[in-house]
Amino acid sequence: MDCFINKGYEVVVVDNLSTGKRENINSKAKFYNVDIQNPLLEDVFDKERPDFVDHHAAQICVSKSIREPLFDAQVNILGSLNLIKCSKKYNVKKFIYASTGGAIYGEPNYLPCDETYPVEALSPYGVSKHTVEHYLYLYYINYDLDYKVLRYSNIYGPRQDPYGEAGVIAIFAERMLKNDKVIINGDGNQERDFLYVSDVVKANLLSIEDFSHLPVRTKKISKEKKFGDFIYNLGTGKGISVNRIFMMLKEITHYKLDPLYVPPKTGEVYKISLNAEKARRELGWEPTVYSSEGLKKTVKWFKKASLKFNNQL
Ligand SMILES: NC(=O)c1ccc[n+]([C@@H]2O[C@H](COP(=O)([O-])OP(=O)(O)OC[C@H]3O[C@@H](n4cnc5c(N)ncnc54)[C@H](O)[C@@H]3O)[C@@H](O)[C@H]2O)c1
Repeated sequence: MDCFINKGYEVVVVDNLSTGKRENINSKAKFYNVDIQNPLLEDVFDKERPDFVDHHAAQICVSKSIREPLFDAQVNILGSLNLIKCSKKYNVKKFIYASTGGAIYGEPNYLPCDETYPVEALSPYGVSKHTVEHYLYLYYINYDLDYKVLRYSNIYGPRQDPYGEAGVIAIFAERMLKNDKVIINGDGNQERDFLYVSDVVKANLLSIEDFSHLPVRTKKISKEKKFGDFIYNLGTGKGISVNRIFMMLKEITHYKLDPLYVPPKTGEVYKISLNAEKARRELGWEPTVYSSEGLKKTVKWFKKASLKFNNQL
């Protein structure tokens, strides 16, 4: 949102603030507190007539999706479909969809995993996020809705919610700074491909700018495009273990305690990293922030945020 505003776009944010926070919304953005499942979403489209939709609203927690698969499907599938339907009706130029690469490939037999690897999701979250990719392809085939799917690895950085069940770096950083016990699910050797948030922002910008010079509906869409042509993995290509992340954060925060190991969570993959060669080739995207630097920036932000919070008490 901030980078689009800085680039001169007029930004409208739709969010039901279920996990999002009002203070994170740029004051230059217009804000609607609307659930994406609500039929009122259409009124927002009617009023604002967006050129682009950059869809991030979701239920993001793998374990919640296992506990509440209906809720997960309602938000992630039906909510997204409502958004796609409105985008078609109001002639959106391009739809960007934040999908997941971390939760749909299952346990791949090679790493880093590329976009051609079969979808073998191990959780309702992986299934719901992937399902929307199919709806988008249908809307492209049937109604010319152009789009891109960005399959994110594990994203981290400032503003991530440290109180949810997802977002291991935010959770660890917050707990270490408060000197609270850090819990590791499983043996800690599970690997994730951690990508700093500014690199993801850049990919979203590149995906939109790809088209922004064209007026609405003048782009002739080639129907020869296949489902996979719209999909881009975003990741560093390298897995880092949760134990390693713990140690790196421990050093940055000067934390003294050992972690508490508890059984692994159902539905979580063991090792995943994403091959983003296609994004590099076709979008001109590449990750620029190394984990050592990204972790320092994240801790710095969490420190500042907790100081601000304490001063407000
Ligand atoms: N963070 C990651 O590592 C990661 C990895 C892969 C994919 N993704 C995807 O990226 C997107 C953003 O994830 P995030 O980590 O920033 O999560 P987040 O929870 O911080 O952001 C999701 C936002 O969606 C809003 N929201 C949830 N349900 C809504 C609804 N029904 N109507 C309107 N708004 C709703 C929340 O209030 C929140 O602001 C999600 O689509 C997620 O699936 C994230």
